[in-house]
Amino acid sequence: MKKPLYILAAIIVVAQFIRPSKIAEPVDPAADLIAVAKPGEEIAGMLRTSCYDCHSGQPRYPWYFNITPVNWWMNHHIEEGREHFDATTWGKVENWSRDHQAKESMEMMEEKEMPLESYLWQHKDAKLSDAQYKQLYDWFQTLRDGSWDVEKARRKAAGGGK
Ligand code: HEC
Repeated sequence: MKKPLYILAAIIVVAQFIRPSKIAEPVDPAADLIAVAKPGEEIAGMLRTSCYDCHSGQPRYPWYFNITPVNWWMNHHIEEGREHFDATTWGKVENWSRDHQAKESMEMMEEKEMPLESYLWQHKDAKLSDAQYKQLYDWFQTLRDGSWDVEKARRKAAGGGK
């Protein structure tokens, strides 16, 4: 091996000692999206397989989570994912927040932007068919109550941002 390769190998080995912890938090099962909204088994299965690893408080971590820097990258996805749509706190947030999350999810299903492409490389079972995207789109629509539009108008009138 050439010298730079030794150095690179050493960095990779040392990096393995720098691991972030897993993101898992105490979960209130009663507040979970599936528990609250009670979709049929089919939709619940799709949500668990295709969305929950990044949008819930209890992601299933694969073995390669133990590899730095894969773990940092994964945690980043989970943190960012949950900022936008969090199935775990569904029953605890304001109505307008649920409405907003359902609206955004409809957009994601329409544009087939979720699950993230990089996730599908390793999770073939999470890939959704056109029919499944439509099913999820229709289901998220049933969760909407329009309260986000009211909240948005209120914020605008109050002179706030979005
Ligand atoms: C591999 C992780 C991962 C999976 C699986 C995943 N998401 Fe996401 N999701 C993210 C990340 C990261 C973001 C924030 C960054 C972005 O928008 O790309 C996000 C953003 C979102 C947003 C917010 C979009 C916006 O414009 O604000 C919604 C809604 C969403 N995801 C819904 C879903 C649904 C529904 C599923 C399942 C069908 C799903 N996601 C599966 C990681 C994931």
